[in-house]
Amino acid sequence: MSKPLNVAVLGCGFMGRAHSNAYSQVNHFFDREHQPVLKACYAREQEKDKLEAFAKRWGYESMDTDWRKLVEREDIDLIDVCVPNFMHHDVVIAAAEAGKIIVCEKPLAMSLAEAQEMVDAVEKAGVANMVSFNYRRVPAIALFKQIIEEGRVGRPFHYRATYNQDYTIGADVPQGGMALWRLDSRVAGSGVTGDLLAHSIDTAEWLNGPIKRVVAHTETFIKQRKHADTGKVEKVDIDDACMFLAIFANGSMGTFESTRYARGRKNYSTMEMNGENGSVFFDLEDPHILQYFKYADPATGRKIEDHLTGWQRIHVTNFEHPYMKNWWVPGCTIGYEHTFINGFADFLASLEGGEKFMPDMRSAMRTQKVCDMVLESAKIGQWVDI
Ligand SMILES: NC(=O)c1ccc[n+]([C@@H]2O[C@H](COP(=O)([O-])OP(=O)(O)OC[C@H]3O[C@@H](n4cnc5c(N)ncnc54)[C@H](O)[C@@H]3O)[C@@H](O)[C@H]2O)c1
Repeated sequence: MSKPLNVAVLGCGFMGRAHSNAYSQVNHFFDREHQPVLKACYAREQEKDKLEAFAKRWGYESMDTDWRKLVEREDIDLIDVCVPNFMHHDVVIAAAEAGKIIVCEKPLAMSLAEAQEMVDAVEKAGVANMVSFNYRRVPAIALFKQIIEEGRVGRPFHYRATYNQDYTIGADVPQGGMALWRLDSRVAGSGVTGDLLAHSIDTAEWLNGPIKRVVAHTETFIKQRKHADTGKVEKVDIDDACMFLAIFANGSMGTFESTRYARGRKNYSTMEMNGENGSVFFDLEDPHILQYFKYADPATGRKIEDHLTGWQRIHVTNFEHPYMKNWWVPGCTIGYEHTFINGFADFLASLEGGEKFMPDMRSAMRTQKVCDMVLESAKIGQWVDI
């Protein structure tokens, strides 16, 4: 039995495209009752031409430059928030009050206070919701989780995450406006902490449990930039780079590093965990590979005596690997866009009575809290308890 799910996507940029593609593809690869219908899309009045082209390309039935009208429309079931961070709060609350299912891009909000209001609104309305921390749906990262749950890492000692890029190094890169709204704190909230480390923190807590304490340092290398909207040179208020140490509730130690000043790094997100029984390493720029070092048998905890001991590179494309039975034959890789399709497949399954979708907004609020505490620690130069 199929059930149309009428979707309105707000924002026609990077994520607007990624989500439109995922709604279009999900039923081709996963058996789900709900069939997303691209009912409407939104962008600002000044981007009307872009919005028209976007609607045509993806086959949207309608479009609007007033998102509130889409939230009020009775023929729309789901509001998908793919606009910059400063809009998430108002859109989510209005959509919750209108009883819509909500998908929201990360970071959930500009601050913990905003996130709390959003969570209150969705929980009061009782609407299904998801936050798009899509890296949980990279098959190799899902396998990372499975390896931990099977006891193959054992008692964890270290967790190490990086998320590095290089696109803001030039002093002539403006802040604000299309794509570079990430450099404008009024639109983005924070810099690499909310934009990149939010991903690393979500994945870290999913894999290794809650972070208990943090101490951070942030840097803004270029202090002033021309603002694309006003044309004036203005102070830059976002963090260009952030490094923090973390202590997890399970006693392990974490290091997190993120910058947009790592020449040559484009979307270099890595994570490594070292435990008593083994280690696991993942690099998003090589997304179908998971590296695993097996030291001890999880059942006995005893060292495996083997002259072939060493790091294994697992090509995560077999049918028994997470999500892969829905895709191609073993050996054929999937990519970035599939993380969104896998995510929507899980979300639709949760709407159909399957496992509760995670991360929801309450879970993303936790990530927001860690981000806020990291920034607070950088400000006061001291350890902060989460
Ligand atoms: N899950 C992920 O991996 C991931 C990746 C990228 C972005 N994101 C998140 O998705 C959201 C959108 O990011 P994006 O990369 O698609 O951005 P984008 O700049 O590519 O697109 C943003 C959309 O909002 C519009 N917009 C831009 N500035 C605006 C403003 N000041 N007011 C109203 N509308 C504006 C743009 O025209 C566009 O339609 C952000 O919250 C971002 O953090 C998540």
